[in-house]
Amino acid sequence: MAAEHQPVLLDAALAALALRPDGVYVDATFGRGGHTAAILDRLGPGGRVIAFDQDPDAERHAQALAATDTRFVFVRASFADMADALAARAIHDVDGVLFDLGVSSPQFDVAERGFSFRHAGPLDMRMNPEAGTPLSDWLARASHGEIARVIKTLGEEPMAGRIAAAILDARAEGRLTDTAALAAVIKRAIPARVAAGKRVHPATRTFQAFRMHVNDELGALDAGLAAGLSALAPGGRIAVISFHSLEDRRVKRFFRHQARPPQPELPMAPAIEPALRLVGKPATANEAELAANPRARSAIMRVAERTAADEVAP
Ligand SMILES: C[S@@+](CC[C@H](N)C(=O)[O-])C[C@H]1O[C@@H](n2cnc3c(N)ncnc32)[C@H](O)[C@@H]1O
Repeated sequence: MAAEHQPVLLDAALAALALRPDGVYVDATFGRGGHTAAILDRLGPGGRVIAFDQDPDAERHAQALAATDTRFVFVRASFADMADALAARAIHDVDGVLFDLGVSSPQFDVAERGFSFRHAGPLDMRMNPEAGTPLSDWLARASHGEIARVIKTLGEEPMAGRIAAAILDARAEGRLTDTAALAAVIKRAIPARVAAGKRVHPATRTFQAFRMHVNDELGALDAGLAAGLSALAPGGRIAVISFHSLEDRRVKRFFRHQARPPQPELPMAPAIEPALRLVGKPATANEAELAANPRARSAIMRVAERTAADEVAP
């Protein structure tokens, strides 16, 4: 089942979660279940995995696993809604939460999902095609300023203004027909001297930015981190694998904020324990994994442990 998508930082993630055979773990991003399967392999009959994914194809794979392993439960929802979903199932105090952010390899490979500039597909990019707004709807009405801002902030693309202008021209001429057409418009907007020598396709940053915008990925991450922390039992671990500096910065900031002792309200009051303790250094893929799985190139994992503190920082 996991063959379509090779899980990244697998051994490091398993170690980070400090698995207990009878523990309860949340896989916030099931994908094709590579991490879930490895966790289940290490749990005994009393252990459980509750997995989330908002993608219908991930759900099909997860339901097949749920039919064969009663220790596994799947929830088709955004991890942003994890707190309600766990509460509805009377699941509290979990022993670990894992996030493996971004998109899975099959999401990229299926042209109809509209994630890839390598295949001609509809301008969609929604991880949950039953909710939200496809990219085509947004591109049909967004202003130059809005498009440039998304490309610049979420793609960190220096040519954002030129690309946005080229997209508006193409829109006016009816040329924004599919992902391949959009990629060609972006490629032409970037001067050859700028594109020369770059390892990645000139549309990479813009496609990433549009995907993050369509799925509100940073907003979901903020909500998911808060929900993951609130679900943890004391001693439980939270591990987050990100592929993008904007995501990693957010994770780092959240962990540091929750690991800093809150200021007591009165100067003489006893110190308050923070909600998280940082665990180890951020992990990246070693040479062997990089050689076997190019997706691991930009992966970085941060880990923290829930303390016994009653309160989390606002
Ligand atoms: C990198 S893949 C996970 C791969 C998985 N760890 C494996 O080994 O197969 C990321 C998955 O997270 C899902 N995802 C992304 N954002 C999500 C969100 N806000 N809520 C739920 N699932 C999300 C995507 O649909 C995708 O299937």
